[in-house]
Formats: sequence, structure tokens, C-alpha cells
Amino acid sequence: MNATQEKLKAQVKQALIAAFGADLAEADPILVPASNPKFGDYQANVALSLSKKLGKQPRAIASAIVDQLDVSEICEPPEIAGPGFINLKLKTAYLEAQLNEIQADPRLGVLAAKTPKREIVDFSSPNIAKEMHVGHLRSTIIGDSIARILEFQGHDVLRLNHVGDWGTQFGMLIADLREVYPDALTTANALDIGDLVSFYRKAKLRFDTDETFQETARQEVVALQAGAEDTLHAWKLLCEQSRREFQIIYDLLDVQIIERGESFYNPLLSGVVEDLEKSGLLVENQGAKCVFLEGFTNREGEPLPLIVQKSDGGYNYATTDLASLRYRIQQDQAKRIIYVTDAGQGNHFAQFFQVAGKAGWIPDDVELVHVPFGLVLGEDGKKFKTRSGDTVRLRDLLDEAIARTDADLKTRLQEEERQETEEFINEVARVVGISAVKYADLSQNRTSNYIFSYDKMLDLKGNTAPYMLYAYARIQGISRKGDINFKELGNNAVLLQHETELALAKYLLQLDEVISSVEQDLLPNRLCEYLYELSKKFNQFYDRNQGVQVLEAEEPQRTSRLVLCDLTARTLKLGLSLLGIQVLERM
Ligand code: ARG
Repeated sequence: MNATQEKLKAQVKQALIAAFGADLAEADPILVPASNPKFGDYQANVALSLSKKLGKQPRAIASAIVDQLDVSEICEPPEIAGPGFINLKLKTAYLEAQLNEIQADPRLGVLAAKTPKREIVDFSSPNIAKEMHVGHLRSTIIGDSIARILEFQGHDVLRLNHVGDWGTQFGMLIADLREVYPDALTTANALDIGDLVSFYRKAKLRFDTDETFQETARQEVVALQAGAEDTLHAWKLLCEQSRREFQIIYDLLDVQIIERGESFYNPLLSGVVEDLEKSGLLVENQGAKCVFLEGFTNREGEPLPLIVQKSDGGYNYATTDLASLRYRIQQDQAKRIIYVTDAGQGNHFAQFFQVAGKAGWIPDDVELVHVPFGLVLGEDGKKFKTRSGDTVRLRDLLDEAIARTDADLKTRLQEEERQETEEFINEVARVVGISAVKYADLSQNRTSNYIFSYDKMLDLKGNTAPYMLYAYARIQGISRKGDINFKELGNNAVLLQHETELALAKYLLQLDEVISSVEQDLLPNRLCEYLYELSKKFNQFYDRNQGVQVLEAEEPQRTSRLVLCDLTARTLKLGLSLLGIQVLERM
């Protein structure tokens, strides 16, 4: 709900009390956006809901409310329609004043959070020695956007990369490499990540089939956890190797994140088990220590346990998450902890949240949120793979997006007979290619699966990054063509007459509402939809036939329309930046 709607709601409430007494102080005015713009901007439906209680006709109730309602500063005189709706239409002068106000505001009317909080966004979080896959790409893109939005709202955000850098995988890998390629464990850069991944695969295969190897691998894990020097050194080398590869992706995507992997919490794991024991929740089950869960059962309908210490004494993913949760609450003082992973991990989060809650580790003012997302599918609707059936390397995927943009751009330049420098072409290809991948991901409701299609995401028409970037560049083109400095248009110039001007103006004023909804629901696709709609509204306004003239118009309309252009461009730029997308002045 935006500030205007808030104000109107309060006023309808007041009128309601004035008309029918303080008994109705709790009644909801049911003030919603108008179902049809013909009737105005908002409608209050309260009269219909009170009919029974007051024993009166809804129209009579509506008219008693309207008699007491003073919204003259904001709206035209209210009208009663149909069975008893109260229609409210914003005054043009009010809209003009609001736009004049946001013109001078770098935040474009978006209010920062009233009570800034410490929030943690746990995202990206790939696993060392394994390939970073498209699931991690989604987590990286969605998590980064959520973090940007929370930061913009003034929250104190800690961006954490909970990398999988501990546990059995290292036992296997180190045990195997000791035999087949010992140099990799002592020399930096002896392996590249591709090799590392294939060594890991082989090691895993051995682990699954060879019992002696299994035992050796286990001993390596024990050595690692006990801090044996040469194992630890080997582990560090392997981590660095992966880290360098991950960093290339983060740089390409312009993502900032602090690595605090699973190994960080190693010293805290035994404390988790001890404290669960003390709180009486711990149960021994076939040698493993676990906590029984409510609402999770196996096929036979028996309650499922969450294992926190395996029978061999080892800890697992859940133990680490319990330890990190406590650390984040106690040391980091986080008030909201947001975990961005694929929907497949939903149970894991629900389970350890439940155990932490039962153990009394979650204070009332701390909120835990799992932000799940769906799968990335290939155009055949199956799991996203390369033509040869391998998993797609993220670097290749991003490079491909850039290469395709580059080719499209060169064709377009030729068609338009434009000469551009190599530097310009590279910059546009990079920005558009990366933005297209990000936007294609963010514009879907994250909970659904989406189909990865270069053709779709690079289309200049439709709900895509290129479309949005093009709208922005087009507006900058107006300023170049008219030799206009948008920053020097003067204030109080907005004058709304044409229907497309009013529609654009009202839309520009909704940014605040959209951003605060994403701040709560953590659904960046709402911001994408808003920006897409805004671009369309702008294109209608700027349309030769349906819309108005801008540069060719007479004053005072000309300046007013230029202000609308500037506000649209600034809104696009701000909104896109919150999605991690950079704009281009020309493309
Ligand atoms: N490393 C995990 C994976 O690749 C994701 C970790 C998510 N964060 C967490 N605190 N569990 O699936």
C-alpha cells in the first residue's frame, strides 16, 4: 500500500467513525485499487461489508460515509456506484505535486525502512571441488537482487557464501589424489577446476564401490577435522583452486559476497550436539544421534529423525546449519536470515528450523526464511544440459550469452548502417548478454521452473532485459537529440493533460509500493513486472499516434513531458540496478 492509499484509508476510517460511532473503529475500510480505471483510482468497499451489522442498505451506508468524508486535498468529490462502492479519483493537481516532489528525490519517492535491521542473505553457496551449476547461478542472481533491495531500503545486510568446503568429499578427493596425483596436494595451481571436478567424480566412484578406499577416505576426513598439517594444506590448495573459478563468475556477474563456508563452523559442531542433549531433545537411534521431527514421516508413517551426529561420530549438513544459525543469531545479531536455495532443499530447512525452534535458539524477534526456487530446464523441457549431455559450465553459459549478443548487435549495426568502435560493441555485448541472463531468471516467479532460452532472453521485444535497456537508451536519445540536460529541467514543471501522461504518471508513483512488497515477499519478479509495465506505459506516451509529442511540443507541455521522460529513465535505472542490471546510454 502506498502513502496515498494509506492516507485515504485513514480518512475513510475517520468518516466511518464520524457517521456510525466509535464501535466501528476496528472496521476495515476495504480500500483497494479501482477494479476499472473508468471509475477512478481507488474504491472503498466497506459499505457492503457493514450492511448486515448495521441493518441498513449498503448505498445508504456509503452515502452517510461520503457525507463525512473529506478527501478534497487528494481526490475529486467521491462518487457512489453500483450497490454501494465509494469511488475515489485522484486529483490531477495532486498527482502533479507528487511527481514534482519525486523529481527532486534521488530515491524517487521510495521511503527507506522505518526500522533498519541486520539481515543475512545466504546465497550462491557452491561446493568446493564440485562444479558450480545452474542452480547456483539462480541462487547467485536471486540472492544478489534481494540483497541489493534490502540494502537500498537501508538494512544492514550481510551477504554470506556458505560454501560446501568441508566433509566427506575432501576425504575422498585427498585420498585419491595422494595415490594418483600427489603434486596436486602440495603445489598451488597444479589442477584446474575442470580436472578437479573429474578427479572428484572418479574418487566418488571409488568411494561407492571400494570398501578399503572408503576407509582410507574416512581416515582423511578424521585427519582433516583433527587439523593434520599436510591434509589441511592439501585442503587449502583445493579450496583456493575452486575459489578462483567462482570468483571469475562473481566478477562477470558483478556480485559481492563474503565467503564463510561450512568449515568455519567446524569448532562449533560438538556444542550443537551437547546443547541438544542438555535440552533433552537428543535421541540415539542405531548409533546415530538425532532429534525426532513433527510433521515429517517415512513411508510407514513413523516420525523421521534429523541426524546431527552419524554413528561414526561425523557431523553433517544439518549440524553445520544448526551451528551457523546459532552463530548468526548470537554473533552476527541477525534479525532476519534468508536462505536462497533450490526448492528441493525445502525439507532440510523446515527440519533444522524446527529443531532450532524446539531447542529455544530462535528469539521471537528473529525470522528465518527459506527462499526456494525452481529448476532451470533446457528448451526440450528436460534438465538443462549441453548438447553432449554434460552439465553446462556457468562460464560457458555466460560467454555464450555475450557472444550471441555480440553477433545480434553486429547485424543490427549493419542494418542501421552504424559505425561503432570495438570498445562500444564489447561493452554493449557484455552488459546486454549478462543482463539478459539475469533478467530471464529474475522475471519468473522464482518458485516455478523456467526454460533457459537464449533466443527468448535476447529478444528486443517482450519482457526481457534488452527491451528494458532499449527503453532506457531511447529516452537518453531524446535528451541527445534535443540537446537537453535532464538535470536542469527546473522543478514544478509537471502538467498532466493527456490520458497517456496520466497513466504514466500514476505508474511512476507506484515504485515505492513495489519495492516495499519485494522487501517483504522477496519476489524480485514483481519489480521486473513493474519495470516492464512502466516501459510499455512510456512507449504509449511517446507513441506518435496514441501518445503525445515531446521535443516538438510547445511550452509548458514540452518541459513537463521531458520531466516525465527523465523520471521514467531514472525509475528504470534504479529498478534495474536493484536487479543487478546496469543500463547503457546508447545501444
Ligand atoms: N552448498 C549447498 C548446495 O550446493 C547450498 C548451501 C545453502 N546454504 C545453507 N546454509 N545450507 O546445495
